[in-house]
Amino acid sequence: MTSAITPIGLLDSDQVRSVIGAATLAPSTHNTQPWRFRCTPVGLELHADPDRALPVVDADQRELLLSCGAALFNLRTAVHALGAHPATTLLPRRDVPNLLAVVRPFAVRSPDPRLVELAHAIPRRHTNRTPFQKAVVPASVVTQLRHAAEVEQAWLPRLDAVQLERLRELVNKSHHAQLADPAFVAEWRYWTGRGRDSRDGVPDYAAGAMPADDGGWILRDFGTRTSARRGRIDESDPLVVVIGSFGDTRLDQLRAGQAMQRVLLTATAAGLDASFISQPVEVPSVRDELRELLGGGLWPQIVLRLGRGRPVAWTPRRSLADVLLEPDRHGA
Ligand SMILES: Cc1cc2nc3c(=O)[nH]c(=O)nc-3n(C[C@H](O)[C@H](O)[C@H](O)COP(=O)(O)O)c2cc1C
Repeated sequence: MTSAITPIGLLDSDQVRSVIGAATLAPSTHNTQPWRFRCTPVGLELHADPDRALPVVDADQRELLLSCGAALFNLRTAVHALGAHPATTLLPRRDVPNLLAVVRPFAVRSPDPRLVELAHAIPRRHTNRTPFQKAVVPASVVTQLRHAAEVEQAWLPRLDAVQLERLRELVNKSHHAQLADPAFVAEWRYWTGRGRDSRDGVPDYAAGAMPADDGGWILRDFGTRTSARRGRIDESDPLVVVIGSFGDTRLDQLRAGQAMQRVLLTATAAGLDASFISQPVEVPSVRDELRELLGGGLWPQIVLRLGRGRPVAWTPRRSLADVLLEPDRHGA
């Protein structure tokens, strides 16, 4: 399968291999890794892999696009850190909807140190579901996170105490709505509690504390065998942020995924851990309520919890051979 990796523009084969590897370290819902890559003479293509969609929790494939957007941000950032400009075209062909982006490593330029720092954060970012320390995230870091979202054409609105309390209620409501749906539970169980030998899905050891049901933020439970030993989450207010976009088209969702990853890597570079609280954006009626809560102008795309947790292990990825498309086939 190495024949599928070819030099592209300024990048030699090893560099192409390393930037695709960086892309695959992106987060994805239930660790489905719904992406594929193809090397062409003009650039590196990112394709959605519809066989890895989640028909229950993500019926409209919005989160699939967020996940692929995150992979795209890693790809762009890794190319940039090698000293090439990643000229990127989003959704370049109407007749090939699964072709999400083409990245062309263009003329050499000196890398932006801030992006190089984010590139170094790519392998250090992990979803951290452990309880976070009771320390407040500094205002200067919150400003950096807000800026990271805005650079990628998304928005991280300020939430006041009343909005945060309402958001906590929406998390609770959507969490229980999902658990009451047998189809959701079956899909979640299928991707959960996997052993160390599985290259996708969420391993049992990546589970955090038990979800609190007593006024704290409810996290999705990914544990099976070790749940009883994990204890309950006991943290005072972590920083909880919503990333919103100005529209809700596929293009907006792909951009929101890039913004999400830029926010996550900015957090990692600042020494923060993060996890996702995506229940309220996955239940459509609750997402509408959240949109109203934000003033009606933004489409909420993802909710993140940020703070400082305990060290966590790496969640596995499929091999490069699994995610490469041969040069002559289209993944539509
Ligand atoms: C769009 C999206 C939604 C996610 N939602 C949740 C969630 O609600 N709860 C959770 O614990 N993890 C969630 N995750 C995190 C994934 O489970 C995680 O990215 C995946 O298992 C890979 O692990 P890693 O992030 O440590 O590399 C989400 C990830 C993405 C991209």
